[in-house]
Amino acid sequence: MPKFLSALAAGVLICSQVSGVAFAQSDYPAHAITMIVPFAAGGPTDMVGRIVGERMARTLGQQIVIENVIGAGGTTAGTRAMRAASDGYTIMLGHMGTHAAAVALYPKLAYDPSTDFAPIGMVAGMPVLVLARKDFPAQNLGEFTVYAKRHAAELTMAHAGVGSVSYVTCQLFNSFLGFKPKLISYQGTGPAMYALVSGRVDYMCDQVVTVVPQLLSGNVKALLVATPRRNPALPDVPTAKEVGLPQFQASAWNALFAPKNTPQPIINKLNAALVEALDDETVRKSLLELGSDIPDLAGRSPEALAALVKGEIAKWTPILKAADQTN
Ligand code: MLT
Repeated sequence: MPKFLSALAAGVLICSQVSGVAFAQSDYPAHAITMIVPFAAGGPTDMVGRIVGERMARTLGQQIVIENVIGAGGTTAGTRAMRAASDGYTIMLGHMGTHAAAVALYPKLAYDPSTDFAPIGMVAGMPVLVLARKDFPAQNLGEFTVYAKRHAAELTMAHAGVGSVSYVTCQLFNSFLGFKPKLISYQGTGPAMYALVSGRVDYMCDQVVTVVPQLLSGNVKALLVATPRRNPALPDVPTAKEVGLPQFQASAWNALFAPKNTPQPIINKLNAALVEALDDETVRKSLLELGSDIPDLAGRSPEALAALVKGEIAKWTPILKAADQTN
């Protein structure tokens, strides 16, 4: 083929590819979107994903299908999401564990939370509470500590895998008080909570949204909330400071991420749908009644989430490396 003809053919091909990509972006979403949730159904991440995802789907005009990808404290899901096509059809609801704490706890982590993802936006802040089974023979942290030390050999703690919020925050709690419980791992705090409610484990840490219904039904007891102020949804639960453990501060967060290189117009559409969902009265009511914190407009931007991830990695890495995690 003469040179000028092959150059022309290449030009046509590039133009059609570029316009195909542009069309795919303006047409987005043309079919259902998968939202990867890194833990079992029934836990806080799953719960928040379903509340917000259902409302985002209405704005986007396509279904959002939740896929629970479990394993390795949420990092199996992180790896899967990182490797997904950058086309906006696979997104992930990550959290403080998968996108911050995992960096310190998994030396061979397959992804870098701050460079392998395109942040979409923060979904909800999630205060963390320490809970005991309802018949645990202690009414407060002081009595819990005395009993836990006396029965150290039998003490059991549930968590959702190394690197999960429940693991990281409770190991920090343990390191402050010198507890070395037997650790029992579940595929999420949904099943871990079930074990606590049925009295098969002594205690666990969990994010507020799944705690509220169990606590209000009297199925578990709360020792403290690890935030500076009491939670409006659980006004009777004392703060860590009130019970003499002011150094234990742990508020988790859940946020949406796409694989890196997802086109900006797609990120913008997803972010706009998230913003609309978080302004929806029904969504706000559900999230607030469950005790979570809804980010303000500035806190929902991709830029704010990118900064949060960097800050959280920098914050948790030295804390987790210093905390004694041998059990
Ligand atoms: C869950 O949804 O099960 C939790 O977010 C797990 C955790 O990080 O503790």
